[in-house]
Amino acid sequence: MNQSTRDGFTSNFGVLVATLGSAVGLGNIWKFPYLTGANGGAGFLLVYLLATLLVGLPLLMVETTLGRAARANAVTTFERIAPPNQRGWKIIGWMGFTAALLIMAFYTSVAGWVFAYIFKAFSGEIATTDPKIAGSAFGKLVSNPVSSLLWQWLVLALTGSIIMLGVSKGIEAVARKLMPLLFGLLLILCVRSLTLPGATEGLKFLFSPDFAKITPEVILTALGLAFFKLSIGMGCMLTYGSYFRAEQNIPATTTRVMFADLSVSLLAGIAIFPAVFAFGFAPAAGPSLVFMTIPAVFTSMPGGSLFMTIFFVLTAVASIGAMLSLLEVPVAVLTERYKLSRKRASLMTIGTILLLGVPAALSQSITAELKIFGMNPFDLFDFLSSNVLLPLGGILICLFVGWVYGLPQLEEQLGNRGKLGNEKLVQLVFVLVRFVAPLSIAIVLLHGLKII
Ligand code: PHE
Repeated sequence: MNQSTRDGFTSNFGVLVATLGSAVGLGNIWKFPYLTGANGGAGFLLVYLLATLLVGLPLLMVETTLGRAARANAVTTFERIAPPNQRGWKIIGWMGFTAALLIMAFYTSVAGWVFAYIFKAFSGEIATTDPKIAGSAFGKLVSNPVSSLLWQWLVLALTGSIIMLGVSKGIEAVARKLMPLLFGLLLILCVRSLTLPGATEGLKFLFSPDFAKITPEVILTALGLAFFKLSIGMGCMLTYGSYFRAEQNIPATTTRVMFADLSVSLLAGIAIFPAVFAFGFAPAAGPSLVFMTIPAVFTSMPGGSLFMTIFFVLTAVASIGAMLSLLEVPVAVLTERYKLSRKRASLMTIGTILLLGVPAALSQSITAELKIFGMNPFDLFDFLSSNVLLPLGGILICLFVGWVYGLPQLEEQLGNRGKLGNEKLVQLVFVLVRFVAPLSIAIVLLHGLKII
């Protein structure tokens, strides 16, 4: 594809909201609260912060840098920037391609539940103060094969039609509208939650760490979340980096994205935990926290069904930007390497996810007993992507940058050829990427595979 006609983000703000749109997703509103709740609160938060600063942010910087340097999709980027005899690094791109499809297969089923919950919240169907009743409503939804599939397909049709519009007219245009909306809705919920009597208990849970609760398990979970949150390790941020503008200040932009993403997680925590504690519910409900505890929490407060509807609209809004970035990884590969039209590439990508998505969406019904390595398809896809492909991709990217690409090229790219005068910062990033990040990720990977 001709470089000058290659689509891309059109302004500083566009880059910021699109990249933030990828980072912000179910990870902030579904995963972050339930993991924080299940892992003891503030201690987990502290470790997650460290993991984000020491591993997540440096990787985010180098991934976007590689993409911008090559101006290409995740596979071609490594072909262009690896030394001629080391083209094998493009395997990182293909792993990302695979991970994107696998993540989409289960991410779209969770997003489907969220979309369904908007209507359930609005109609009062889940207006119950008993988490058990909310739980059985949730069970009814996920164990019904027809509704699970239809909601998933709706989500795919919606995100698929946006991705067909392109990078600037699709991804960027949607992010420009959704990101401000997301912050607005989130603030409304925070004010509601914080003004409930008894809210301070929830804040204490979230912000005063109990160091005894920081176990090796907690550290590993936090690092895994840092990866998933910042969409790193799978070529997603690399693909987005290829759409950054030439003069983009990458360290500044990525740092802003990291802080904004963290704020969304914290605000989600502030919207949820004070309310959970105020009504005496358990913060450690696990993955179903959002679908079982949340309806009960909201129903307990005045104006509950309005706030519950806002909550699920917010979650749906957050999931869209993340799904667009997942779709863009294969779509960019297919259009640039196989010269497919954007429409055709999008349809092929959606079609593949549709096939992979069926067993994932039916994991609470028809395929529940279809166990591979003891996991149903939903859990298997989550495990293969989050615990294997993302960390493996992350290590390989670190090794590539730290030991092949090298400091001089990184300095040139991250410093915009000396214009930013940030050599000290780049050197620090380089050390983190060369040693600290690959070692810590290796530990997570081996743990995830139950090797240690
Ligand atoms: N960062 C997204 C979230 O938090 C998930 C995601 C992972 C998106 C990997 C793209 C790539 O929900």
